[in-house]
Amino acid sequence: MANYGKGDSKWFTHDRFGMFIHWGLYSMLAKHEWIRSFDHIDNESYQIYFDLFEPDMFNPREWARKAREAGMKYFVITTKHHEGFCMWDTKYTDFKITNTPYGKDILREIVDAFRAEGLHVGFYYSLLDWHHPDFKIDRYHPLKVRDDWEELNKKRNQKRYAKYMRDQVTELLTQYGKIDIIWFDFSYPRMLPSGPGKNCDDWESEKLIKLVRKLQPNILVNNRLNLPGSGDIETPEQYTPLFDKVDEKGKHVTWEGCQTFSGSWGYSRDEQTWKTPKQCIDMLINHVSRNGNLLMNVGPTSRGYLDYRAINCLDAFAEWMKYHGKAIYGCGMAPAEYPEPRDGRYTYNAETNRLYLHIMNWPFKAIFLPGLDGKLRYAQLLNDGSEIKWRNASSDELNADNMLESTLKNGVWLTLPVVKPNVEVPVVELILK
Ligand code: GLC
Repeated sequence: MANYGKGDSKWFTHDRFGMFIHWGLYSMLAKHEWIRSFDHIDNESYQIYFDLFEPDMFNPREWARKAREAGMKYFVITTKHHEGFCMWDTKYTDFKITNTPYGKDILREIVDAFRAEGLHVGFYYSLLDWHHPDFKIDRYHPLKVRDDWEELNKKRNQKRYAKYMRDQVTELLTQYGKIDIIWFDFSYPRMLPSGPGKNCDDWESEKLIKLVRKLQPNILVNNRLNLPGSGDIETPEQYTPLFDKVDEKGKHVTWEGCQTFSGSWGYSRDEQTWKTPKQCIDMLINHVSRNGNLLMNVGPTSRGYLDYRAINCLDAFAEWMKYHGKAIYGCGMAPAEYPEPRDGRYTYNAETNRLYLHIMNWPFKAIFLPGLDGKLRYAQLLNDGSEIKWRNASSDELNADNMLESTLKNGVWLTLPVVKPNVEVPVVELILK
């Protein structure tokens, strides 16, 4: 595998939790960021949204504050999504924010506001472009109405488009200070019955990655350029991996799950599959307990504010993270000698040697932790620092469940209060010897 260099992932795996922001003209259609493709909307019909885009209630400081309070330490914003619209004042197209009624470089305002709240900065840049005249029509393109691909594409020059991407990426990586992440989206290399895809040759990924590493040597790059060795981060999407991610040699690879509150990335008014706050918090815990990061998406409205359902979940994160940040930052998967108990997840901070037991479903009074006998020094609830009593399991004369001596061996029982602490997911901090 070629070596294209690596970015600095130390801060990233420490911080664990970021905000994804999908925002563009598609927020006006309020259905899905893929709506151009789904409904075959050509440039002429899409123009109306460009002519009228005016987020009059946009307040980036408010977004940034919400993200910080939710415990998010970095953000990744769509500078251009598949629709092709650019959120910054680029020289290379007129299809950009500064030519809409809004008129200002909105990306700069967002970057400034999030930096001021102390968050690391990430740019999402779509490899697909459904507006650019040189982007070859493929199976996802809005103009895919027939399948005579040669004929459809005879005036399109994908090489020119690849150059356009490099020019734009150069702007993004030279005009906004230090950029911590670039998130390219996405490759679909296979030819399917529904039409051709695109791969590293179409994007000229090799030139692109070399350019990125030259302009921002410490930057982290995701893995969607269809070029082995080019990425720092694996990006499972819309599902929670069941295990840590490893390479062919079984070595852990840095990964970040990207997830939505509602199934759509762009603002989707009528979407009904909004996750509950509990589901969202569970997701964060599950990602970190398997050594991953969580990039949690918001899709702001076209007026520029965050929908009440998104606010609801962000507030729930804020409330939970206020007390439980210690069980997330600097944490990852627990060592194998501590298997997770029923209804529990572990996160582990190797530096402090503390184990965090996230209790997903509050049990009645007791919980059994295998492998901890002789290892545990003290246990407390993380939300209020109240002591939790525990006892060695094999010496437990009651053994009401008639558990096998071999099962009990090396385990401990925690004695929990009957009433679940008043937090979404209670955490017991296990201070090891
Ligand atoms: C998919 C979609 C896209 C979204 C992305 C986020 O690749 O094409 O709409 O931005 O996932 O991971």
